[in-house]
Amino acid sequence: MSRLDEIKKPIEKELDVFEEKFKSSMKSSVPLLDRITHYIVKRKGKQIRPMFVFFSASLCGTIDEATHRGAALVELLHTATLVHDDVVDNSYERRGFFSVNALWKNKVAVLVGDFLLAKGMQLSLANDDFGLLKIVNEAVQQMSEGELLQMEKARKLDINENIYYEVIRQKTASLIASCCAVGAASVNKDAVVIEKMRSFGEKVGMAFQIKDDLFDFGTDDVGKPLGIDIKEKKITLPLIYALSKSGKTEKHHIINLVKNHNENSAKVEEVISFVRNSGGLAYAEMQMHRFQDEAFEILGSFPESEARTGLEQLVRFTTERKK
Ligand code: IPE
Ligand code: IPE
Ligand code: MG
Ligand code: MG
Repeated sequence: MSRLDEIKKPIEKELDVFEEKFKSSMKSSVPLLDRITHYIVKRKGKQIRPMFVFFSASLCGTIDEATHRGAALVELLHTATLVHDDVVDNSYERRGFFSVNALWKNKVAVLVGDFLLAKGMQLSLANDDFGLLKIVNEAVQQMSEGELLQMEKARKLDINENIYYEVIRQKTASLIASCCAVGAASVNKDAVVIEKMRSFGEKVGMAFQIKDDLFDFGTDDVGKPLGIDIKEKKITLPLIYALSKSGKTEKHHIINLVKNHNENSAKVEEVISFVRNSGGLAYAEMQMHRFQDEAFEILGSFPESEARTGLEQLVRFTTERKK
């Protein structure tokens, strides 16, 4: 049994119900769409976002129907953004298989992503879940803004550590923050509690994306391409740190590689070695743990419970995971 399966145990039944709801909420009578959503459902991800919804709800009250709709909503939106993200990143592998754009081309993937976004919204609107939709929609807006800010920085290559944090806060942490806020809001109307959970999720999300960015410098199979961030001129924390510690000449050399030789695997490898040898990975790990500690601290203000333990384990998983 995997580590994640172990963590899932207290919410196993909820996740089974979730799985059905998630699948049925993607249904379409258009054969091509139906084939693609089947393909997506079969190659499911870790589903940590619905887990955050359920554990957060359970921490702040009693899981109910609205919690379930919230869980399906966030996974639908997450899936939509991944389908779009692989188009944006020119990435042909997702979850160990071909990405939607790899199999069906970009134009199909763009429309499938739109369809999933609409289906998520529909699920909430059909049940008058305006409060939940309001929380999640804010995250969706921020995700687009984060990706666009990142793109702007990839063009000009003028990113620094603080801008990096702003990018990942918007593109990744905002959705995980909304998972925790939605879970809480589905069972508890106390605005202070909801905000505390949102803030908790944001910290976890920051650590989550730093971990993802570290994967890109590694050699382990994580089910998606390696070295692709540099290929896409995405300058993430390990490289930002490494550049900040290097001399002028070396700095220009590395930036030139990213700027003009990003399609050349040997040059990308050179950038990766440079980062590995200059402490960039260790620095990013340290910052990741700083966000993780901040998340633990917020959790500590809740009384001990099975749900709190579940969230603690999820936070630990965020930084220790292998994919
Ligand atoms: C991938 O998220 C996108 C990022 C925010 C890094 P996950 O790693 O949660 O993706 P799946 O759903 O498990 O495949
Ligand atoms: C996160 O960034 C993407 C989203 C928030 C949709 P990445 O581009 O690094 O995510 P992966 O590595 O492709 O999953
Ligand atoms: Mg990507
Ligand atoms: Mg990535």
